[in-house]
Amino acid sequence: MTEVPDYLLQRSRERRAALGLESGDGGGDSAAVVPAASADAAPAPAPAAATVPAEIEEEPPAPITPWVEAAQSRKKIPVWMAPVALFLPLWAFMVWGTLEEPTREAEGPLAAGAELYAVNCSTCHGGGGGGGVGYQLNEGEVLATFPEVAPHIAWVVNGTENTGPNYGSADRPGGQRVTGAQGNMPSFADLGGLAVLESVLYERVQHGLAPEEAVEAWILWAESGEVPDWEAGVSPQAIEAQFQEWAAGNPAATEALEAAEAGGEG
Ligand code: HEC
Repeated sequence: MTEVPDYLLQRSRERRAALGLESGDGGGDSAAVVPAASADAAPAPAPAAATVPAEIEEEPPAPITPWVEAAQSRKKIPVWMAPVALFLPLWAFMVWGTLEEPTREAEGPLAAGAELYAVNCSTCHGGGGGGGVGYQLNEGEVLATFPEVAPHIAWVVNGTENTGPNYGSADRPGGQRVTGAQGNMPSFADLGGLAVLESVLYERVQHGLAPEEAVEAWILWAESGEVPDWEAGVSPQAIEAQFQEWAAGNPAATEALEAAEAGGEG
């Protein structure tokens, strides 16, 4: 074992003192110094280790990006959402209503009749059937003149020119119609049988206020595609016979006619 020179021991002591370590017993040999130094130095990192995580925790948070800041500072539900949310069920109910199947009124013979009436008849009888050059048809008036369907059809096909001295029901309040008393109505034979039938059915339901069941069999005839075209001069009796013949071969129409009779309407 070699002697450690004094100057080295002295330097070691100074170094230990500088590190704030006890000088200890100051073992004369370096072997004793080294373990002592490492034993004493070992606890030293421990407090340092404890401070390091603390320092990490204290690290300033990452800068908040503008969009995150905007998202955090704005109101979560806008004020205008309140009335919107309030009316949402109503809106849903309205949408639900539009999901219904289109009814026969929307696309059947009566709807077709409404369009035909607007184009061909409203100029003289008024858009709502209130009358004008031609007689008033609405509020049931047209049914007072034509309680039956076939004479109504014959009238529209024939017009004033192809009709006898009188037309319509003899029981009409105010007396039977005198042809030409109101002026001249043109013949609508050129429209074709189906179009005339559809216009007439529309008038009877919309203006005459006939229940739809009362003309159900005639609606079925219009839907059958078997309505003939009538020449001007056709008689109500001829139209009635054609209709009855068709209806006799059509169970749904026969049933509809029986139901209409039971309902008290012709
Ligand atoms: C150019 C005018 C004019 C047009 C268009 C017209 N009408 Fe007339 N309509 C008359 C006149 C006028 C009378 C009365 C005729 C008469 O006195 O001879 C009449 C009478 C009627 C009557 C009998 C009413 C009653 O109580 O006496 C019905 C029903 C009728 N028209 C239906 C129709 C239909 C359906 C159409 C369309 C397809 C139509 N009219 C288009 C002028 C018109």
